[in-house]
Amino acid sequence: MTQDSFPYPIKRIGIIGGGQLGKMSAQAAKQMGFHVAILDPTPECPAAHIADIHIIGDLYDADQIRALADVSDVLTYEIEHIDTKTLHSLYDEGYPIYPAPRVLEIIQDKLKQKQYLAKHGVPVPRFEEGQTLTNKLSFPIVQKVRKGGYDGKGVVILKSPADLVNALHSPFMLEEMVDFTKELAIIIARTSTGEMTYYPVVEMMFDDKTNICDIVAAPAQIDDTLMKKARDIALHAIKVLDGVGVFGVEMFLTRDGQILVNEIAPRPHNSGHYTIEACITSQFEQLIRIISGLPLGKTDLLKPAAMLNLLGEANYNGSPIIEGLHQALSIPGLSFHFYDKAVTKPFRKMGHITILDENVDKALHNIQKVKNVLKIKGTVSML
Ligand SMILES: Nc1ncnc2c1ncn2[C@@H]1O[C@H](COP(=O)(O)OP(=O)(O)O)[C@@H](O)[C@H]1O
Ligand SMILES: [Mg+2]
Repeated sequence: MTQDSFPYPIKRIGIIGGGQLGKMSAQAAKQMGFHVAILDPTPECPAAHIADIHIIGDLYDADQIRALADVSDVLTYEIEHIDTKTLHSLYDEGYPIYPAPRVLEIIQDKLKQKQYLAKHGVPVPRFEEGQTLTNKLSFPIVQKVRKGGYDGKGVVILKSPADLVNALHSPFMLEEMVDFTKELAIIIARTSTGEMTYYPVVEMMFDDKTNICDIVAAPAQIDDTLMKKARDIALHAIKVLDGVGVFGVEMFLTRDGQILVNEIAPRPHNSGHYTIEACITSQFEQLIRIISGLPLGKTDLLKPAAMLNLLGEANYNGSPIIEGLHQALSIPGLSFHFYDKAVTKPFRKMGHITILDENVDKALHNIQKVKNVLKIKGTVSML
C-alpha cells in the first residue's frame, strides 16, 4: 500500500472521555469511516451511542487508558482532567497522542498555563501563585483552583474581605479582576508539521444567573483590527505551546482595547460548536483530520451564526424532558443537538442549538426566542 492508500477503517481513533465533545468528535470520525473507541466511566455517556467500542473505566485509571490504546492507533482526549502519567509513558513508548502529554500538563494546571504563556510573550491578566489568602489582598481579585475546574466551578470573584468566606480551599492562583467589555474565543487548529489554521473570532455571552457561557455569536461584533489582533495572539499562543490538535482560546477584550488570554482548552471547545453547520470544516472533523495525519480542512464561515447551550433547568433532575421543541424547530435555519445524557441536572449542558442567518443580530434575536421557549426539565422536580 502507498502512503496515501488506507485500509478500511481508515484508522482506529481512541478518545479519552465520552461527553458531548467526545460524541461530536466520534460522529465526525464515523462519518469519515474511522473506527472509534472511547473511555468513560458512565455506561450511557453521550459518545457511547456512537462509538464502536466503549471501555467503561475511570479517566485516571492507567490500565484502562492502556486498554484504550490497545484498541486504537492514535489517542486524543475531550477533557483535561485525566491521568497524564500514563499518557507520558505511552508517548515515550512511541504511541501517538494529540495534543502531546506535555501540552496537556501545562494546560491542566491554570497556574502553569499562565506562567508558560506569560514567559512566551502571550498577553495575560496579572496573576500570582496563591499561597495564602489574607486580608492584605487588594480587592477585587479572582481566585482560581489550579486543577479540575470547569464551567466556572473553581473560580470565585472576591470583591472584598467579606467574600473570603467563599474562598476555595484547593491549591489556587490569583488574578487581577479584568475590566472587560467582551469575552472572545477562537478555535485554532495545528498539525504535526506546524501548519496552522483558524476559525472566526466569536463572542461568548454569559447567562446572568448561572455565569455559564450560554450563547456564542459568530463572528464577534468587533472591528477587523481587533479581530486580527485576537487571532494573532491566539495563533502565537498555540505555536509557542507547540500544540498539535484543535484548541479553544478564551480571551478578554478589555475596556481599553487590549486582548488578554484567559485560558486555552487543548480540545474542541464549546465556543466552536457553531462550526458544525456554519463552517466548511467543523472543529470536530478538523481534529480527526489532524490526529490521523490528513490535510487540514477549510475553515471559512458559510453564514453568520449564533449558538445556544441548552442547560438543564434549575430544580429538575431525572430523565430529561424537552419542552417547546415544536415551537423552537419552526424557526428557520435552526439545528438542534441533544447529547443523550441519561439524566439532567441544574445547569448541566444537555444539548445546543445553532441558528444560521443573514447576520449575527438576526441569529441572536431568534436564539433569544429559543431560550424563552425551549426548556430542559426532568422527571424529578425538586420544587
Ligand atoms: N481575571 C478575571 N477577571 C474577570 N473575570 C474573570 C477572570 N477570570 C475568569 N473570569 C470569569 O470567570 C469565567 C470562568 O473562568 P475560567 O478561568 O475561564 O474558568 P473555567 O475553566 O471554569 O472556564 C470567565 O469566563 C470569566 O467570565
Ligand atoms: Mg473558561
